Amino acid sequence: MSGNVVDRGLEGVIVGETVLSNVEGQVGRLTYRGYDIHDLAVNATFEEVVHLLLYGDLPAQSELRDLNAELAPLRTLPPALIAMLKAIPTDAWPMDVLRTGISALAHFEPHRADGAHESNPGAALNLIAKTPSIVAAFDRIRRGLEPIAPDPHLRTAANFLWMRTGEKPIKEAEAALDMYLVLLADHSYNASTFSARVTASTNADIYGAITAAVATLAGDLHGGAPSKVMTMLEEIGTPEKAEAYVRNLLGRHEKIMGMGHREYKIRDPRAEHLEGSAKALTEKSGSPWYKVARALEDASDAVLQEMKPGKKIYANVEFYTAPTLSSLGIPKDEFTCLFACGRMAGWTAHVLEQMAGNRLIRPQANYTGPAVHALEPIGGRRAHAVGALN
Ligand code: COA
Repeated sequence: MSGNVVDRGLEGVIVGETVLSNVEGQVGRLTYRGYDIHDLAVNATFEEVVHLLLYGDLPAQSELRDLNAELAPLRTLPPALIAMLKAIPTDAWPMDVLRTGISALAHFEPHRADGAHESNPGAALNLIAKTPSIVAAFDRIRRGLEPIAPDPHLRTAANFLWMRTGEKPIKEAEAALDMYLVLLADHSYNASTFSARVTASTNADIYGAITAAVATLAGDLHGGAPSKVMTMLEEIGTPEKAEAYVRNLLGRHEKIMGMGHREYKIRDPRAEHLEGSAKALTEKSGSPWYKVARALEDASDAVLQEMKPGKKIYANVEFYTAPTLSSLGIPKDEFTCLFACGRMAGWTAHVLEQMAGNRLIRPQANYTGPAVHALEPIGGRRAHAVGALN
């Protein structure tokens, strides 16, 4: 704090409460409703985590069956939405398309007399089910292919891979993507979730709140990082070139994408699971990207220690996302869309939590502009260039 102003970027400022997830950055622990992410990563499917976040606990077998039965038909997109996706330029950025698709989805859902849509677990499930369908549909459309209908017998991860390629995925691929979705499902008041909660706090509906969240996720300080990690890995090419690359980058005072975190002061607990997936998948496919990423992480630590002794940054969740998703055949400009598919579980749960105990989120700013002064009628004003806001 300085005077009345909280730290820039709200670092360390507590702005609300949640029972959904907890990030303990100093010890590198992430929990969803009290379950450790390390347990969830290896013992729970994405659908079980959806149940945990939306309904309060992990499901019993019968509850999971019911949830899967409810999600299956919801994955089908309205034909008019597919037509809309077909009208978008094929070189559009997939995150822009997803934002448009989520926003457009609202037109096909029932609304109240005042125009707002129901914001309830049913709407949340609709968003969770349809997000991967939108991403997969545009993936095919931009390649000149027809979208593929979801398979009612497949769960979220396998369905996405099926809808993209028209091939049933091997079990390692399904398991890796499923775990990725579990790891990304929630993360307390991160920027996109906060954005969703701010929007929901005005009594805007869940579709509006989630559209805001998707827009917020897109930036490279948040969910946009993994495609830039992939670009770095491609530029580096081979593990032995990693050190010179990092030296160069840090010498130019640029950031290493996929490293550093506002909350975690030690390695992001999700990174280890993604590293495991990346290693296993690339060993199977013979792709070089895991080895390059590992060399980059090691070199970053060594070079940073040399340049700024005592300073440490660690891999965050985005770092090994890049070799993992690329091994699954997903193009790098779609990585953030996959993040959105997982985070949809958390976003929707946060919107419902916000609505259940709502108070408008409306902070203040310290005014630093000119003091109050008289308005000069237009004829008497001097022409002068006003500095653009930057
Ligand atoms: N590469 C190199 N240095 C980094 C770094 C990175 N990825 N992340 C942080 N640092 C350094 C900063 O240069 C700064 O150093 P200084 O104290 O000598 O000036 C210090 O660590 C603090 O960085 P800052 O950007 O103020 O931290 P933050 O809490 O605002 O930022 C991130 C957190 C995530 C935005 C930041 O780490 C980052 O930009 N990472 C790369 C993008 C990324 O991976 N985003 C996904 C996040 S999950």
